[in-house]
Amino acid sequence: MKSKKSPAPQKRWALLRRSTNTGLRWLGEIAAQEGAKLYLVGGVVRDRLLGKKTLDIDLACEGNVQRLGERLAKELGTRFLYYPPFKTGTLQGPKGERIDIARTRKEGYPKPGELPKVEPASITDDLHRRDFTVNAMAQSLHPSDFGNLLDPLKGQRDLKKRLIRVLHDKSFTDDPTRIFRAVRYAERFSFRIEPHTLVLLKKAVKRTPVLSGERHLYELRCIAQEPKEVRVRTIKRLESLGALAFLGKPLAPLSPTRLGRIKESCEFLCLLLSLFDETHVKKLPVKKACLETTSTLREARKILSSLARLRTPSQITFYLNNYDQRGLGIIAETTRAKSCDKIARYLEDYSNVKISTTGDDLKRLGIQPGPRYKELLDNLLASKLDARVRNKREEQALLGHWLREK
Ligand code: CTP
Repeated sequence: MKSKKSPAPQKRWALLRRSTNTGLRWLGEIAAQEGAKLYLVGGVVRDRLLGKKTLDIDLACEGNVQRLGERLAKELGTRFLYYPPFKTGTLQGPKGERIDIARTRKEGYPKPGELPKVEPASITDDLHRRDFTVNAMAQSLHPSDFGNLLDPLKGQRDLKKRLIRVLHDKSFTDDPTRIFRAVRYAERFSFRIEPHTLVLLKKAVKRTPVLSGERHLYELRCIAQEPKEVRVRTIKRLESLGALAFLGKPLAPLSPTRLGRIKESCEFLCLLLSLFDETHVKKLPVKKACLETTSTLREARKILSSLARLRTPSQITFYLNNYDQRGLGIIAETTRAKSCDKIARYLEDYSNVKISTTGDDLKRLGIQPGPRYKELLDNLLASKLDARVRNKREEQALLGHWLREK
């Protein structure tokens, strides 16, 4: 007799990726076998109730997270990355799927804006520590009450009313990142911020900022990852609320049209940061590559007006070689100036032009190594860019001509 085989890990992942009941039920059964109760929690419950797709699965576990995570990893053919101090862990699927599991917990904030101190607690306590009512719901995956909605804070009512509402008056003080989250969710779902919540939010904005640069940057990244129109509206609203004060005053009014022309989230972040004073931006742990892009973006006006005077491909190339290519791409994408054509030609064509002559060739011609090399090679490149030479033979001929002239 054939034994009943359990589906292969790929099949399990496929079911989980689509958040099917079969996949979720299976998670709950495995948890029960490990003596734990498992819940879908937070954004994933909100999105399911809204009929929206979610990519990640957030689970809260009443029980031993490490044991459950390791068992699931075995069944799913992956590894469980466990962080003991936080009692949280992650399973990663073959197609970028992600399942986060956290011990149900209580939280206390030692100081406003700091990361919370946590201790194990029930699922109800866990829901009470969250940011907004619509994010404070759970759905049981346990076989005995599968699918049961836990909604002690009336999240479903607020979903229907389309409201973002905090759970208590100290919410924004405890965790000021919620200022950014409230506006982001309101704009993403076209919800209103509930009036009392808005009063609390405005009060929290007025207090001196207590968040680290890292946490501010994380919030800006989350905003940048929202769809185009959502991120522009979120930024404009945060600015009008004064919540971007940690970046100083914008150098010029933030233009929604310009910000709205960007496609990539990373480029959106660079453009946004370039609209603020460098001294403030440097307080954030921004990567060097991003800082280089922002400094090019800050010079957009100067670059465009200089380009207006430059005619030949070589003039354009040698001038633009001083700038960051991603920054130049963003300028071309977001400004409507004639000179943008020149940037586009530089990025697509001129910047890829190479000459065939090398330093070794110059050595063979008996030229003493030194600054002259750069001068000659640059002149050759300029000649190639301006179509005065096409190949190595013509480069060598021109070089010979220059050397004879000297
Ligand atoms: N959460 C919170 N306070 C925060 C961050 C998160 O209470 N400052 C809780 C919320 O319950 C939230 C959950 O942790 O739903 C997961 O956080 P996160 O992944 O940031 O948000 P999602 O709700 O999943 O939303 P998104 O769709 O933006 O991923």
